[in-house]
Formats: sequence, structure tokens, C-alpha cells
Amino acid sequence: MNVRDSEHIIAELGDKEHYTLTDNMQDADLILINTCSVREKPVSKLFSEIGKYNKRKKEGAKIGVCGCTASHLGEEIFRRAPYVSFVLGARNVSKISTAVNTERFLSVDTDYDESNYAFGEFRNSLYKAYVNISIGCDKKCTYCIVPQTRGEELSIPSELIINEARKAALKGAKEIFLLGQNVNNYGRRFSGVDEKIDFSDLLNRISEIPEVERIRFTSPHPLHMDDKFLETFANNPKVCKSMHMPLQSGSTHILEQMKRGYSKEWFLDRALKLRAMIPDVSISTDIIVAFPGESEEDFEDTLDVMRQVKFEQVFAFKYSARPLTKAAEFDHQIDPEIGAQRLERLQLMQDEILDEIAESKRGKIYPVYIEELRNSGFLAGRSDNNALVQIEGDENLLGTTVNVKITNPKRLALYGDIVL
Ligand code: 5AD
Ligand code: SF4
Repeated sequence: MNVRDSEHIIAELGDKEHYTLTDNMQDADLILINTCSVREKPVSKLFSEIGKYNKRKKEGAKIGVCGCTASHLGEEIFRRAPYVSFVLGARNVSKISTAVNTERFLSVDTDYDESNYAFGEFRNSLYKAYVNISIGCDKKCTYCIVPQTRGEELSIPSELIINEARKAALKGAKEIFLLGQNVNNYGRRFSGVDEKIDFSDLLNRISEIPEVERIRFTSPHPLHMDDKFLETFANNPKVCKSMHMPLQSGSTHILEQMKRGYSKEWFLDRALKLRAMIPDVSISTDIIVAFPGESEEDFEDTLDVMRQVKFEQVFAFKYSARPLTKAAEFDHQIDPEIGAQRLERLQLMQDEILDEIAESKRGKIYPVYIEELRNSGFLAGRSDNNALVQIEGDENLLGTTVNVKITNPKRLALYGDIVL
């Protein structure tokens, strides 16, 4: 979502203020940093980064801080870094023109409604288009700062989404990537005229655009994975068969403490149903280890879900206590050393699973949508089920779909050759 927010900022500044991008800091009149606040580390990095910019920037250049840490720290950023020109919070992106033209502009209003705002056009990729479908998040997961920085959840009107997807697809982006904190809750609340539409309906409507070949989305919430959603996902051929299912913990007790709204059994039921419906589906997940009160048994439950589901990708994090969250106040915070050990155990186990998954792909043939020419000289793209595939080949292949036979499968990428 931050990547898309940055694209919106670039579009607004290009259209309204005639800024262009530069790779050279010495040339920049304006330096922006878009920030995350979900864990503590990126927040502490912010000040060291902007300190460096301040030393290296050209005379008179402005520095602006955007995103979730801007929302969360607000004024404090000016106090700790007085050379910053403006602080623009998440969901205040459409005010960027005002921000660059106003001395010490501060806007971190998490109630601000930009769900009806049609941003200008700018995309990093010609081949894949990110499209926001909602802003904010209505969940209250006890570890998470996002509802405090991105505010209440609002769905973006379907007409805006479909127009944006159509426009991008007509320009060559055959893949549309839908974004929201909680995409499968789409349609629950709009700020303007109420629509009767849910996420499954939205997927089906986008798939009716002839130029759209692939649809991806993130993040869905396991709680809202009802049968209608799973069936639309399975049966619509344009919807790519990779699902992100953020588990967070495999222990029903910890899930209750996290206020995730589902149990270990519900999660397993949904994930295994998906595997049964779509044999080639890939499932990725997010996991937090060492949440307050997590016992060895709770952690074992997480490993157990990992063994049963065999996720194709796991993003695992050590719990990080965040201000403004309930869990930060909980008793039984876990010793960071234990957290580090659990993370390591989890990663070792997942590496074995990944080796097994990679090996099972040897010799298979996948249609791969080629999106990128890497510095290594390899072309890179994704199979429908989101495996990263790399091949040798000509850049003319960018934006095309080719059949690739996997000859050298590795944990993080599958290498192969084009077959006709
Ligand atoms: N500590 C560690 N990880 C967190 N996440 C969110 N909040 C925290 C936290 N306080 C993780 C969750 C989420 C992902 C984006 O970041 O796993 O799904
Ligand atoms: Fe945070 Fe939970 Fe909302 Fe995800 S669903 S953004 S983890 S509060």
C-alpha cells in the first residue's frame, strides 16, 4: 500500500506541480520519505535516514515525511528533525500539493476521507497495475498500529476502481493487483452513495474487462473467507491462484488475545479447503512469534499449522510492542531472546518445507507473465500461482506470457527455459 501511495504522490506532484523524478539526491528540490510504522525498526530508521538526506541535499531542498509514521508521530517529527518541511500522514496523500507549497505543513487527520478522490496516473510498472479498493482498517487486532494510522475502513466506489483498472489494462497492464488492509471485507461501508456489492462481485466485474488477464489482491482476512469468496476465487479463471492468508498465530488462545476473530480450526479448515478445491494453489502467510503470553505450546500450534498447510511463502516477524495498541499493555511480554530463538526455529522448519515445495516443481511447465529485466540479466515473472520464475531471454518478452519448463528450482525462485 505504501508503494501505491508513493505512486499517487508522484502522480499528483507531476500533474499539479510539474515535478519530475531524479535518481540523484543532489539534483532534488524535494526529498520525500514514505514511512511504515507497523514494527519499531522502520520508525527508528526514519530519523537516521532523514538525517543523512539533510546532510547531502542541495541548498534549499525540502524534505517531507509521509505515511504511517507521519500519522503516528505528527508534530514530534518537527521537534526531532526541525529541518523537515512537512509531515503528511497516510490517507492525506491528496493534500501533497498543499504540503509542498506551505511552510511547515502538518496533516495527519486519520478521519480524512479520500475514498472518492481520483488520483492522477503514475505507475512504476508498465505491466502490473496496483489499484486501491479501500482505505483504513476496522479490525482491532491488539498488536497492530494500522487502525490508528490509517483510520476507519472505507471502500472505494466500484466505478472508480473499475475505471482505473480499465485504463491501466488498456495501457498494457494485463495484471491488476487490488490493494486494501482487508480486501474481502470490501463493500461493508462507503462514504458516499451506498452500493450493494461485495469483494466476490468486484472480482467478477473486474474480470469482465477484456484487456485484464490476471487479477491479484492483498490482503484478505481469514475470518471473511466464506464459501462464496472461496468459490469465486477458485472458479474465476482470471483470478490468480495464490492466496495470502495471514495466520499470525496457530494457537486459538493467542488468536483470541490478538482479537483475530478465528480459531486454529477455522484457519485450517479454510486453508485445507482451498488446497482441496485448487490443487495448484499457493498460500502465503504472515506470522508473529513471541506475542505476549505465547507459551511453548502456543508456538508449537503455529508450527503445527505450518506443517499442515505447507505455505509457499511465510513472512515471519518477532512481536514488536507498538504505542497506541492494547497488546503493548499486556502482562507477560516475552523475552526478546526467546522470540529470536522461536523465529529461528520457525525459519529453519520453513526452509525445509520450501526445499520440498521447490523440488516438487522440477520439470513442470508454467505460463509465466514476464514483468522485469533484472540487473543479473535474467527476465523475471510470476506463474499464475505466484512462483517467481526467472529465465534467460530477450527484453522483447516483457509484458508477454511464455511457457517455462522448470529446470533448476530454488527456494526463492524457479529457474527454467522457455518451451513452445
Ligand atoms: N509486531 C510484529 N509484527 C507485526 N505485524 C503487525 N503488527 C505487528 C507487531 N506489532 C505484522 C503482521 C501483519 C504484517 C503486515 O505485519 O503479521 O500481517
Ligand atoms: Fe492490522 Fe489487523 Fe487491520 Fe491487518 S486486519 S491492518 S493486522 S488491525
